[in-house]
Amino acid sequence: MRAPVSVPPPLPSDELDDPYPHLGAARRRGAVATTWPLPVAPGTPELGPIYSVLAYDESVQVLRDQDTYSSRGLSEAMGPLFAGAIIAMDEPEHRLYRALVAPAFRPKVLERWRTAVVQPAIDNVIDTFIDHDRVDLVEHLTFAFPVRVIGRILGLPEQDVANFQRWSLDLINMFNDPEPGVRALEEFRSYFMAFITERRLAPRDDLISDLIRSEVDGHRLDDDAIFASVKMLLPAGVETTYRSLGNLLVGLLTHTDQLHALQHDRALIGPAIEEGLRWQTPFLMVARQTTRDTDLAGIHIPADQHVFIFVAAANHDERRYLNPEAFNISRAPTPHIAFGTGPHICLGMHLTRVESHAALERILDRTPNIRLDSDESEPRIRGTVLRSPDALNVLLR
Ligand code: HEM
Repeated sequence: MRAPVSVPPPLPSDELDDPYPHLGAARRRGAVATTWPLPVAPGTPELGPIYSVLAYDESVQVLRDQDTYSSRGLSEAMGPLFAGAIIAMDEPEHRLYRALVAPAFRPKVLERWRTAVVQPAIDNVIDTFIDHDRVDLVEHLTFAFPVRVIGRILGLPEQDVANFQRWSLDLINMFNDPEPGVRALEEFRSYFMAFITERRLAPRDDLISDLIRSEVDGHRLDDDAIFASVKMLLPAGVETTYRSLGNLLVGLLTHTDQLHALQHDRALIGPAIEEGLRWQTPFLMVARQTTRDTDLAGIHIPADQHVFIFVAAANHDERRYLNPEAFNISRAPTPHIAFGTGPHICLGMHLTRVESHAALERILDRTPNIRLDSDESEPRIRGTVLRSPDALNVLLR
């Protein structure tokens, strides 16, 4: 059996606001490092061999080669939230389960969600603060919005949404504070198992009913597999979107010329979303383990080794992006890998794009005078592994 993937204890965010200079320096030394490329907390025991992929081409190569780089260690590393989820499967199991889950995210379904769920949800969220002079967008918008979208997509009754938000917070925070997370997972599971049974008897127009109906070559998802997909939507679908939306808003509010350009030309919304994801990728890296000896960028990697693909570093690779540290929504379109690539490429990426598009459009429409609140401290994008602003205080009038 392989050793679990272990991430070194991250340096507290206060001491490492910005990992990009460290990642850039490491990448300039080589596409692959044999150490952890970020500073670690004092007293951290010897980490053992760790392979960190820092350049774009090599990251793509690893993510597209599942025969050599396995995802299985993820459920051990990430704990119960990822157990049984497709993100921690290899082929051929992954192909089957992804095919069963993917129809719930197809373009036709997404179109339905855009109008029935996402657009009303962003307006409801903005309604909660639109009459105020000032607001913290992290507290009142970027977190509140994706959790509401996922709750509605799952088809939860309105009266259960508050519980769902509470479970989401505890589950997302599970890695820092395991006890409430484990409790939330138990409550969430018993709630959802009953909910799945209900939907089996009376299917509706929601994601759970889509997952129940899904069939590939005579295979269907049983209740455990449906729950495994649903519980992953919280870390995968809520946390990443709320962080990426916060990062994009920081980019725009601290580069007001670009915000004004967007106000005058809504065609820039799409490029702005992609630039936000590239500039401040919401989570720094994904993990794999080697299934056999291999070589990457001239570095020998034995079997059973932890390999960390720093998608954030790949998205700042100067061989690919001009002036990569700059936030520039008008840069020449060059795809990034914030959503990964290869067989595990993010299943929710189009939903995130729809959410971000709706959010930006409605913010531009409904808060034309939005600007940073100079009485509050400047927003800072923080975090070593997961990154976003803690607060984003703005004036609305
Ligand atoms: C900004 C937002 C998001 C980012 C940056 C992001 C990033 C990623 C990345 C990098 C992966 C690949 C992981 C790997 O290769 O090991 C991934 C996979 C996945 N994401 Fe996302 N994600 C986002 C939003 C979402 C949303 C909104 C959903 C669902 C509602 C979602 C569902 C998934 C699922 C199910 C997988 C696993 C796919 C598979 O293993 O085949 N993600 N995401």
